[in-house]
Amino acid sequence: MRGKKANLLCANASLRRWGAVSSFISWDELENAIRNCRRCSLHRSRRNAVPGEGSRESQVILIGEAPGSTEDEMGRPFVGAAGKLLTVIMESAGVPRWNVYITNVVKCRPPNNREPSDDEISLCSVYLEAQLRLLKPRAIVTLGNIAGRKIFSMGGMEWSGISRMRGRVYKMNILGLEAVVIPTLHPAAALYNPQLKKLLESDFELIKGVLDSFGGSISRPKTLFNYMKQQH
Ligand code: URA
Repeated sequence: MRGKKANLLCANASLRRWGAVSSFISWDELENAIRNCRRCSLHRSRRNAVPGEGSRESQVILIGEAPGSTEDEMGRPFVGAAGKLLTVIMESAGVPRWNVYITNVVKCRPPNNREPSDDEISLCSVYLEAQLRLLKPRAIVTLGNIAGRKIFSMGGMEWSGISRMRGRVYKMNILGLEAVVIPTLHPAAALYNPQLKKLLESDFELIKGVLDSFGGSISRPKTLFNYMKQQH
């Protein structure tokens, strides 16, 4: 088969494949797809893609911008200096890191720690969408401007910059899912700035309060359905 018809069949097959990525596949398949992704040019310079980690039964997802150098080396999110600060602030607010799922808008490191481009963000979106569909979080915490802007645009809401939006709770519908979104600062911004560190700490107190209002557990109650979903 040649020409237009073959191209159309190819395009349909690839659409079906990406449709499946965003709706049906399991966590393990999704993470493998991310590790082997070549959708944008970042795959050429990365050492490891960084899918995300944490509890797949959490009601909470934390979303950063993109992996930095240490994350690229280890294949894990938020394990460098900013990640260490984030982990300490979470623990002292009573939101243990391993009780939530942590990921980034873009799964591969942009060279020289530049911001990810709009194209990179949009090509990588399929993975964040799949993570949100699998996790179905009730709370979404965005870290920094890029993650806040991305989630607000998915929720059809206007984003007017991190300093105006942070520290408040917004209700929105994202991919058909009702969730509260709490934008806060990126921990890298708070690393050498005690005032921003205080704001980040106070935002995590707010986040803890919202999570407490879910009834005590950050994890989704175990049901047979949830258990079986994790196995597939
Ligand atoms: N900054 C991010 O946005 N994400 C990471 O995983 C690490 C640093």
